[in-house]
Amino acid sequence: MSKPETSRRTAIAIMAAGKGTRLKSKHPKVLHEVGGKPLLAHVIASARKVAAAADIYAIIGHEADAVQRAVEGTGIRFVRQEPQRGTGHALMCAAKPLAGYDQVIILSGDAPLISSTTIERLRDFHQRSRSAMTLLSAHLENPTGYGRVIRAGAKSHEVKEIVEEKPCTPAQRKIREINSGFYALSVKDLFDHIEKLKTDNPHGEYYLTDMAAVLRRAKKPVVAIQTDNAWEILGSNTRAELVELDQKMRADKCRKLMDEGVTIFNPASCVIDSDVEIGADTTIEPFVQLLGKTRIGADCRIRSYSVVQNSQIGDGVTIRPGCVLDGARVGAGALLGPYSHLRPGSEIGEGAHVGNFVETKKVKLGKGSKANHLTYLGDAEIGEGVNIGAGTITCNYDGVHKHTTVIEDGVFVGSDSTLVAPVKLGKGAYVGAASCITEDVPAESLAIGRSKQIVKEGWVAKKRSGR
Ligand code: UD1
Ligand code: CA
Repeated sequence: MSKPETSRRTAIAIMAAGKGTRLKSKHPKVLHEVGGKPLLAHVIASARKVAAAADIYAIIGHEADAVQRAVEGTGIRFVRQEPQRGTGHALMCAAKPLAGYDQVIILSGDAPLISSTTIERLRDFHQRSRSAMTLLSAHLENPTGYGRVIRAGAKSHEVKEIVEEKPCTPAQRKIREINSGFYALSVKDLFDHIEKLKTDNPHGEYYLTDMAAVLRRAKKPVVAIQTDNAWEILGSNTRAELVELDQKMRADKCRKLMDEGVTIFNPASCVIDSDVEIGADTTIEPFVQLLGKTRIGADCRIRSYSVVQNSQIGDGVTIRPGCVLDGARVGAGALLGPYSHLRPGSEIGEGAHVGNFVETKKVKLGKGSKANHLTYLGDAEIGEGVNIGAGTITCNYDGVHKHTTVIEDGVFVGSDSTLVAPVKLGKGAYVGAASCITEDVPAESLAIGRSKQIVKEGWVAKKRSGR
């Protein structure tokens, strides 16, 4: 009895070993980013919706260690291709791990827009057609740079061969049906015939695309299905293509967020990474950047020229123009900016205010506390209802070590104070303006750390007369 279709074991192989010569970069191509994430990470994310991590193999080679480090958190497996002798050779290197599977879906690590729906469609079509090789093709207005699909006949499902751009005849070059670089293959047919690939092409490489003609010559059926969405298969061989994909991905992201109830004025001016989450009724003004793993609550307003990276923002927060946040957590109802700089480890409490030209780093600012003007707060634990006067500085660094400043609930720090850490201001204490505080201040006390004011009456007149 033949196995039911669904029980056929499917692997996904992602080709990601190439150098990316056309990018003219010292970094491997698949680690270049679109939507704020490496190309390869996008492909893996789509593959993961179709297969278990243990059935996904990334074929890596150029800068393999760096590539593996960047994506190994996904739990997928890795196959090394050394040296890199073409896309056909990449699959030759994966023969062993793929031997236990019935079919393999091959994806390209440099085509990040591929959706899980399309991968499933390719897999299902391949199973139904019982072909040896199914390739995903697309119709492009401008097919430049892609391999062309030569069909067996005018309306045939079957494919005769794939011809790369360079060796195309002028007539073939006019064909707009291109090879996406995504395929589904019977593992047995692939490895029974892969040794027939030759390197008689301008780059002297083993082209996986030649498998179409190889299998057809062996009387094995090769078919193609066209994608409904030509965007999805676009690759990124050049910087211009990378930027185009980035824009497309970000435009899609903004549309999705708007569908979820977020207002984004002038989305084309905003840079929102693909993993960013935003709650409903939040408004994003023009020229805002939301990067990395940032999460923004509901009912917030993020005003223009703010850059928020890897930060968690609660509900109802207002970020006024020109703020820079990195690795910060901001409680509900807080008010930031304009021009606040929240560095990693900043934890701003509910309803707290951080105002203009205030820099924070590794700071806990309690509920309802305020630091409104011209202040540096670093390595500090600040309680609730604290008022930090304009120009206050925590002197946290003695040139060798960092020290902590503790400011308990309800403290009032007068303007222009320097708090030399380690130092502690007890609950409800007051610090007189312009104090230099080097010793702990007990709760409920007033500390004044400045020289007493001297007034010399009549001094000016004396100076004028030269006496
Ligand atoms: C390839 C196809 C082309 C198709 C296009 C779609 C071949 C010969 N050509 O061309 O028909 O239209 O994709 O985007 O396959 N790679 C390896 N090992 C190697 C070489 C490449 O893993 O030795 C990886 C690359 O990292 C990349 C992918 O394979 O992720 C595709 O290689 P690339 O050089 O970009 O192929 P294209 O020229 O775009
Ligand atoms: Ca490519």
